[in-house]
Amino acid sequence: MRSSTDFVTWFRSVAPYVNAFRSKIFVVAFGGEVVADGKFVELVHDLNLLASLGVRLVLVHGARPQIENRLDERKLRTTYVRGMRVTDAATLQCVKESIGRVRVEIEALLSMGLPNSPMANAAIRVASGNFVTARPVGVIEGVDLMYTGEVRKMDTAAIRSRLEQGELVLLSPLGYSPTGEIFNLTLEDVAAEAAIALKAEKLIFLMDTAGIETECPASAETSLLRELTVANGKTLLQELSNKTAKLSDDAQLYLPFAVKACEGGVSRVHLISRHVDGAVLQELFTHSGIGSMISEGPLQNLRDARIDDVGGILQLIESLEIDGTLVRRSRELLEMEIGRFVVVEHDRMIVGCAALYPFPDDKAGELACLTVHADYRSTGCGDTLLKNIEIRAQSQGCKRLFVLTTRASHWFVERGFLETEVGELPKAKQGLYNYQRRSKVFVKDI
Ligand SMILES: CC(C)(COP(=O)(O)OP(=O)(O)OC[C@H]1O[C@@H](n2cnc3c(N)ncnc32)[C@H](O)[C@@H]1OP(=O)(O)O)[C@@H](O)C(=O)NCCC(=O)NCCS
Repeated sequence: MRSSTDFVTWFRSVAPYVNAFRSKIFVVAFGGEVVADGKFVELVHDLNLLASLGVRLVLVHGARPQIENRLDERKLRTTYVRGMRVTDAATLQCVKESIGRVRVEIEALLSMGLPNSPMANAAIRVASGNFVTARPVGVIEGVDLMYTGEVRKMDTAAIRSRLEQGELVLLSPLGYSPTGEIFNLTLEDVAAEAAIALKAEKLIFLMDTAGIETECPASAETSLLRELTVANGKTLLQELSNKTAKLSDDAQLYLPFAVKACEGGVSRVHLISRHVDGAVLQELFTHSGIGSMISEGPLQNLRDARIDDVGGILQLIESLEIDGTLVRRSRELLEMEIGRFVVVEHDRMIVGCAALYPFPDDKAGELACLTVHADYRSTGCGDTLLKNIEIRAQSQGCKRLFVLTTRASHWFVERGFLETEVGELPKAKQGLYNYQRRSKVFVKDI
């Protein structure tokens, strides 16, 4: 960060996320590789920060590499049916030992509170217990999977009460049956079911790749899909089974559960790289994120502004008011005039706005405060806002639309506006024209 102004701008930019995330449940799932590679310490610092901001955390860990090692040590071989491990009694023993070890390692790291580290003064209390009830997967393709299970039920009341007491809940890929047996589960099943049952705000999978990457058949180059709807995800899975699309092993593993979680009511599922330090923070606290985000419907929508959008609009236009691109508006004025605004919302953040001030006696309207967040420009957002304002103006009987601008003349000219004189403005507006700003006046017949 270059200057104190950068710092202040950055700090303000994360404030909406902090407010939006407080008291929300996030389920964070990661494989045993994160612990095996020694990367868990970095993740713990970020989780600690989230917990300090009031996020209620449920962690779900895996233990695949540790289980594989244990099986190798004991010279046991496992077989797979449709990608699922057959867990016999000897394998289950290895599973229990490996998960137990990983679990205590995680608990130890979460208990760290070294001075001069991001963990200073941190006191994360970790809750664990028999929160997951499992049932056997049963016989598939004629093979009994024995102690391989799937989630049957989550004790959400118990998990919620721990979270409300400020504890972090750690879930392992093991479940217990009412008959007293233990079942080997997958971390993705536990994570998705926990997120659905707890109506979590977010489910985050840490994976080997950067997110969901698709391959261009011609160049074999991969590109990261930053946002997907459930429908996009299902299409991709269909293409995968038709062999018309390629996905990484991790994406194949997590995408079906991401889709399932969204369909089950989880607001957002994030698939991000486990190899990037601070990936969770980058994904959650920046507009563009770092990995792939899946949601039930499209993330961006245009709608009438509401009174609780005032803060978001002020934040959006603040820097443009400071540099003189836009006229200053006080919070009070904006609150009074909020009914004139439309906004573009992206993942619950205001990223664009515009307002219409009608002058009925002149059958004219003024388009004002057209703004698109710098990260979302050149994606047609400005055009969408302009079209919406034109339609609004027409429906209110306006025949002409005015705009006063200092910096975006060409943008309006390219969209059919013509430069005109101040004297052509509606009479009521002429009296308000600021001769010091010397904005140019443009008009368009609509
Ligand atoms: C003007 C503004 C709303 C356009 O938003 P946007 O979402 O980027 O608009 P679109 O995606 O529909 O159009 C993008 C195109 O406009 C061009 N453009 C963006 N700002 C421009 C400007 N000030 N002057 C000329 N052209 C501009 C872009 O280069 C791009 O063209 P390209 O695709 O050929 O490169 C946005 O740049 C902004 O918020 N500017 C600051 C506020 C402002 O000046 N508002 C107008 C006064 S009310």
